[in-house]
Amino acid sequence: MKTLIVKYLPTGASSNTKKLLDVFLEEATNQNIEVLDLLKEQAPLFDEKSIQAYYKRNYGGQKLDLDEAKLLEKNDKLIAQLKSADVVVFAYPMHNFGIPAAVKAYLDAVIFNGETFEAGKKLMAGKKVLTLFTAGGIYSEEVFNFDYPNWNTIALQSKAMYGFMGFDDIETIGTSLRDVTVADSRIAEVRSRLKNIIKKWF
Ligand SMILES: Cc1cc2nc3c(=O)[nH]c(=O)nc-3n(C[C@H](O)[C@H](O)[C@H](O)COP(=O)(O)O)c2cc1C
Repeated sequence: MKTLIVKYLPTGASSNTKKLLDVFLEEATNQNIEVLDLLKEQAPLFDEKSIQAYYKRNYGGQKLDLDEAKLLEKNDKLIAQLKSADVVVFAYPMHNFGIPAAVKAYLDAVIFNGETFEAGKKLMAGKKVLTLFTAGGIYSEEVFNFDYPNWNTIALQSKAMYGFMGFDDIETIGTSLRDVTVADSRIAEVRSRLKNIIKKWF
């Protein structure tokens, strides 16, 4: 059983979100864990050439020549890494009510037709995905609409994307540690939720 941690923690050692990831690592002991640090390894963005190679291969079913294949080499490596995991754990801060650009770039680089999703199929069946994020505010986890604080597009998008890919179980835990008077109790709450998820998954 392999766990892939995909992290983007630009605040570094003092990151609030790192505190949630540290709780996960404390609770999920003795696991086979691989880490992808998106600060060190950036996901490729599609350009005019690479998107044509993607359409040709992943929608057209055609073979790519060596130069074209090279354009998707990084995607293919990231996709193989993602598919090798049984559990995927994302850790990143909320930026502008959603997924930060570096993480969205990763998702756009690995959510590939015929590889990690296909209409009517559940290509990621058997796998589970957890997202840990912190934000300045506290947002609804189940209700999404135009009224603040129902702007948690991280939970909404995670449900949509990972559900479409066919993941068995999709968990999203977000909190705010901004108010230091409640930070410890919020971390304790996250720990308790993580314990339940870990018991269920591992
Ligand atoms: C560029 C940027 C955008 C942010 N956007 C939001 C936001 O839309 N909503 C919010 O509640 N907090 C927002 N924040 C606050 C962070 O999400 C919050 O401080 C978080 O805990 C930071 O996590 P970190 O310490 O792991 O970086 C933003 C912070 C930054 C730097």
